[in-house]
Amino acid sequence: MMTNGDTVWITGASSGIGEALALEFASRGTPLILSARREDELARVKNLCVERGTEANAVMILPLDVTNETALPDIVQTAKAFTGRIDMLINNAGISQRALCIDTDMATYRRLFEVDVFGQIALTKAVLPIMLEQESGHLAVTASVAGKVGAPQRTGYCAAKHAMMGFFDALRAEVAHRGIKVTTITPGFIRTAISQNALKGDGSRFGQTDNNIAGGMDVGDCARVIMRGFDKGTPEIPVGKGAEMHALWIKRFFPRLMFKVASRIGQAEQ
Ligand SMILES: NC(=O)c1ccc[n+]([C@@H]2O[C@H](COP(=O)([O-])OP(=O)(O)OC[C@H]3O[C@@H](n4cnc5c(N)ncnc54)[C@H](OP(=O)(O)O)[C@@H]3O)[C@@H](O)[C@H]2O)c1
Repeated sequence: MMTNGDTVWITGASSGIGEALALEFASRGTPLILSARREDELARVKNLCVERGTEANAVMILPLDVTNETALPDIVQTAKAFTGRIDMLINNAGISQRALCIDTDMATYRRLFEVDVFGQIALTKAVLPIMLEQESGHLAVTASVAGKVGAPQRTGYCAAKHAMMGFFDALRAEVAHRGIKVTTITPGFIRTAISQNALKGDGSRFGQTDNNIAGGMDVGDCARVIMRGFDKGTPEIPVGKGAEMHALWIKRFFPRLMFKVASRIGQAEQ
């Protein structure tokens, strides 16, 4: 169980789910390390965190690009030097996709995997020795319902999120007996900038809030559900309010039905 004095590092903290989680931790006075690429947005989130309750000197802005693998070891040492510990790392940075497979360039698939898979693995690997030495820690990843169920226009995103579910489930099996918890989070549609920032087939920005995201769960509500899951020690936290959440159990118990439903959606979207 985390205590309020534990240091929590959140990637993708400049927006959306990462920002909302930072605010929830801040309302508990938790020391925070906020990471993403946009330093100005991180500064904005830091101010909000201070308003919520964490002391200004207990919030560190640590800009990073998760795809810059060679820079990560030094960045991790900077993070550790902040309070001397990293108690929790939330691998939340990510980008989505809005394009059919036939229209998606290989470079775009590679970009999705660099951010959504290799960036998360590289940062986790760089933090893991610190947690092993502490004999405690908590690693979390914002995966997705798309990490359990295939959805049209997201072949690369679904593949990346499925990869993350597998990676972190396997890692849990390796580190549970060393005092390290692993949590996978599977959000459905949450109202954030995710579809705005999603990649089209040629790698350019989709730039629109699609209907699913517009009708999705409020991001603050999402963060509060995730926090309850962290508090309870839930290894896999589903969060969302729409029909997409039913896809999790339909896929598990009636996979053929799920494939039919997904195919109908795919046909309707073309
Ligand atoms: N919203 C949903 O419906 C939904 C559903 C399932 C899963 N998720 C997952 O939730 C996570 C957060 O997404 P969101 O919905 O909050 O979307 P968002 O508002 O677009 O936030 C994405 C965050 O990732 C950061 N990021 C992107 N590329 C990065 C990079 N190369 N290095 C470092 N940071 C990077 C962005 O910051 P900068 O641009 O400043 O770098 C931003 O803070 C993602 O992993 C996403 O796949 C979202």
